[in-house]
Amino acid sequence: MLLGVNIDHVATLRNARGGLEPDPIQAVEVCEANGADSITAHLREDRRHIMDADVKILKKVVKTRLNLEMAVTDEMQKIALEIKPHSVCLVPEKREEITTEGGLDVASQLNKITKFVTPLLEAGILVSVFIDPTEEQIRAAAKCGAQFVELHTGQYSIAYGTPDEQEEFDKIREASRLAHALGLKVNAGHGLNYKNVHRMRQILDLNELNIGHSIISRAVFTGLAQAVTEMKELVK
Ligand code: PXP
Repeated sequence: MLLGVNIDHVATLRNARGGLEPDPIQAVEVCEANGADSITAHLREDRRHIMDADVKILKKVVKTRLNLEMAVTDEMQKIALEIKPHSVCLVPEKREEITTEGGLDVASQLNKITKFVTPLLEAGILVSVFIDPTEEQIRAAAKCGAQFVELHTGQYSIAYGTPDEQEEFDKIREASRLAHALGLKVNAGHGLNYKNVHRMRQILDLNELNIGHSIISRAVFTGLAQAVTEMKELVK
């Protein structure tokens, strides 16, 4: 299984002081040198962490694959078509949320998302949709043109170590199986950490995990190189 590292929170820290450090671009070099298979950055509407200039530089410096997370808005579509990242991951976005809360509701806006996805695919950008692990969302994702789904592991992560863990894990496993059977490639992420990530290895259809907060948090104590190396060991 591959490891994508989300570098948003390096930029969160940088922006806290409004200066230049820590530099998310420097983080890319460290992540890639220590086993990251791709780099994810989320350009949010409010630019609270990653900013437009970062995305332009990321496109130039990322040697693995740049995955741009973004909302389904005209502004983001325009930026993606200009930057041409390797892939985009479509996420729901609410201004007041601390982090992405639920998955994108593809099922109730299938026409809108299909139209949104078309020019991205025509530009050669791979498209993923970040969805909750439900049959309804997976069947919709398979119809919208996206080649990938990213399954939201937030509920599994919250339930880890509680009586609900198995049920939440089973949802991810079943969702992954169905998505794979429908011809989609399957990624997963959100809330995964050094304790709960090991169960993802039991899901054979999973292609890549996207992990941010726990890696950047561990890096505060161990350094980023060590934090990425340790996660890579758990994922591969
Ligand atoms: N995948 C998606 C679609 C996300 O929105 C996020 C959070 O930015 C992640 C993965 C990474 O989540 P975490 O920071 O909890 O590892």
